Amino acid sequence: MKIKKVVVIGSGTMGSGIAAHLCNANIPVTLLDLKTEISEQARDRIYKSRPPLLLDKSKIDNIKVGNISDDFDAVKEADWVVEAVVERIDIKHNIYEKIFKERKKGAIVSSNTSSIPIKVLSQNLTEEEKKDFCITHFFNPVRYMGLLEIVKNENNDLEKINSLKLFCEVELGKGAIICNDTPGFLGNRVGVYAMQIAMTEAFKMNLSIEEADAIFGRPMGIPKTGIFGLYDLIGIDLMADVLKSFIKELPKTDKFHKVAKEIPLVKKLIESGYTGRKGKGGFYRINKTDDKKTMEALNLKTGKYFVAKKININSEKVNLKALINREDKYGEYAWSVISKIIKYASSLVPEITKEFNDIDEAMRLGFNWSKGPFEMLEEIGVVNFFNKINDYTGNKFLENLAKSKNEKFYGVRQKYTDIETLGKIKKTASSVDGNNSAQIYRFDDYNIVEFTTKANVLDYDSMDALKKATDKPLIIINESMQFSAGVNLSYTMDFVNIGDFKSIEKFIRYFQETCKHLKYSDHPVISAPSGLTLGGGFEVMVQSNFVASHTNIVVGLVETIVGLIPAGGGCKEMLARWLETEEAKKDPHYAPLKVFDIIGYGKTATSPTEAEPLKYLKPEDKKIMNRNSLLEVSKKILEDNKDFKAPLETKFNLPGKPVKEEMIKVLEKLYNDKIILDHGMEVGKELAHVLSGGDTTIDKTLLEEDVFKLELDSFMKLIETKKTQERIKHTLSTGKPLIN
Ligand code: NAI
Repeated sequence: MKIKKVVVIGSGTMGSGIAAHLCNANIPVTLLDLKTEISEQARDRIYKSRPPLLLDKSKIDNIKVGNISDDFDAVKEADWVVEAVVERIDIKHNIYEKIFKERKKGAIVSSNTSSIPIKVLSQNLTEEEKKDFCITHFFNPVRYMGLLEIVKNENNDLEKINSLKLFCEVELGKGAIICNDTPGFLGNRVGVYAMQIAMTEAFKMNLSIEEADAIFGRPMGIPKTGIFGLYDLIGIDLMADVLKSFIKELPKTDKFHKVAKEIPLVKKLIESGYTGRKGKGGFYRINKTDDKKTMEALNLKTGKYFVAKKININSEKVNLKALINREDKYGEYAWSVISKIIKYASSLVPEITKEFNDIDEAMRLGFNWSKGPFEMLEEIGVVNFFNKINDYTGNKFLENLAKSKNEKFYGVRQKYTDIETLGKIKKTASSVDGNNSAQIYRFDDYNIVEFTTKANVLDYDSMDALKKATDKPLIIINESMQFSAGVNLSYTMDFVNIGDFKSIEKFIRYFQETCKHLKYSDHPVISAPSGLTLGGGFEVMVQSNFVASHTNIVVGLVETIVGLIPAGGGCKEMLARWLETEEAKKDPHYAPLKVFDIIGYGKTATSPTEAEPLKYLKPEDKKIMNRNSLLEVSKKILEDNKDFKAPLETKFNLPGKPVKEEMIKVLEKLYNDKIILDHGMEVGKELAHVLSGGDTTIDKTLLEEDVFKLELDSFMKLIETKKTQERIKHTLSTGKPLIN
């Protein structure tokens, strides 16, 4: 069964997200709603969405819009009809009746419901119709969330379900997990329980919301929004509806009920319009006074807002054992939350799925956790866990594990897919080496380097690991959200603060040397980025010999935003790429001016389609929808390049002074128009100096080392200025740039 045309009914949050993502996969899609104006507005929202739902905005017209009365004929042509209307069973039943009357014989019909059992959804369908009906539960935002839960009914044509699963994996890039027909399926059942436990325990233990978020966040391998921040993001009112539906659907004996009770403070927030980020605020709010924006946090006891406090628990790295063994309220909270999540998740096996590790993968793909409950248990250690936990009677999974005490109970990961994923293969490495910032996995005929710092920021150790791993073909890949957000700025600022600029210079030199080594070592180096690939992260990628890129990337050189210029080869490689163009061959000013514009504005691309015209990616770089496939594609590149020879050194013919003067004219105009200020001018001049080739003239050819030297000298000049230091500090503390 080939899926060539799709109709999506209901153009709200989810319907429009699903339609946009089908468009990303080049599948023609028709989006229908009650009125055409509604679906037209939805298409408008897709176009303007941030972060963008579309990989390529110019394809927006591949989404046709219409209404369910006049345009229903589209259903006749569709191979798959996705229902994503409001969560009302009567409305859904009516729609199915209509769809099944019109659909092409054998076309798949699915619902995006998050809470209605398939038994109930399909109760009016004939046995024949049931064969082609299932639930396809996408997560919001559809382009970015990896999880798709598929729920079958007992009549399903299994071959068809499998081909739908394959389509969703390959074409839509989803981690498609088949699960049983139970309330909330896998992700929400465990994820929402975890949120509720984190919240109710914070109330019980008198933790402030900042404290709870500081624990139930990065230290546990959970996104930094934490629990109260996540509540604000999802919408406090929407969460209340979700809880109501769980209360309605789950048997009275389910432990969920204990944590789903209405909390008076939460009720009050909703009633007064404090529904989260979309409302007046929520657990956090931004207070705008006297032209100043202050982040405030709600006091859970008094219900009043105070200036939010930064909580430092001195635990940047995920180390669950250390966290739960802390002898303070943070350790107590962490253990209480983690142990209850493990208990609840394990009590649901085999009812919600017979594969416990599918629950972990659902938490990774649907909630961006770095480890699910069972992996947390594995990390804590079985014996340790049972030494600490008291009551687990009736929990078959834990009772069995308590008997076997098998520390290796986990087995393989990512069983839901046949793809050879990084998660599966890491466990088969012949040895593992590494340092604080990266792991090296060694196999017989290649190495993998996985960065391991927060947002995978790079430092001396990251470079050391890369250099060490080039003794064999190398794949640079990881499982966390970002490939690399760039050089570790706080590591750099530590040197600035003690006036040790020599060490910064040494680090940048080592960064350059390592990247050069990646490019010219005897073995091929492949980068497989996903997520942020910025600054230094981009420089690692661009100096690898091959790239296998996920379609969800944010890529670019953003150094000028903090008052610096790229110095790890970013200027050099961008020049090299633009110098190869036909235009550059005719006009020696063309390439330096283009790169000046791109780096000067710190331009980023949010997809490979946007990255190619900037030459951040090349046409021959592989672009892949399914993140799980990055490793397989990288390995295929290695296979196809057995007789790899390192490239020849690039040479640079740059015009020097004349083009530098042109760039300075551009800066002067920006300065006069007040788009840049004094320091921006200084940064621009250094960039102009590097990109024009310094004080060279056209007769002199620069080698890569020469351009590296230019980058380094200008970088050092800038990092020594008070203004750049101020801008970096500002960005580190607020996450936002300081215009200067
Ligand atoms: P929404 O309220 O944003 O959009 C629903 C859309 O359905 C509206 O545009 C409405 O005009 C349209 N609609 C209502 N009756 C219709 C009819 N008879 N024919 C055609 N269109 C009709 O809802 P949302 O959030 O997009 O949810 C849709 C479905 O997806 C629900 O079943 C929900 O449970 C599920 N879901 C929602 C998630 C979320 O985060 N919002 C996540 C996963 C699933």
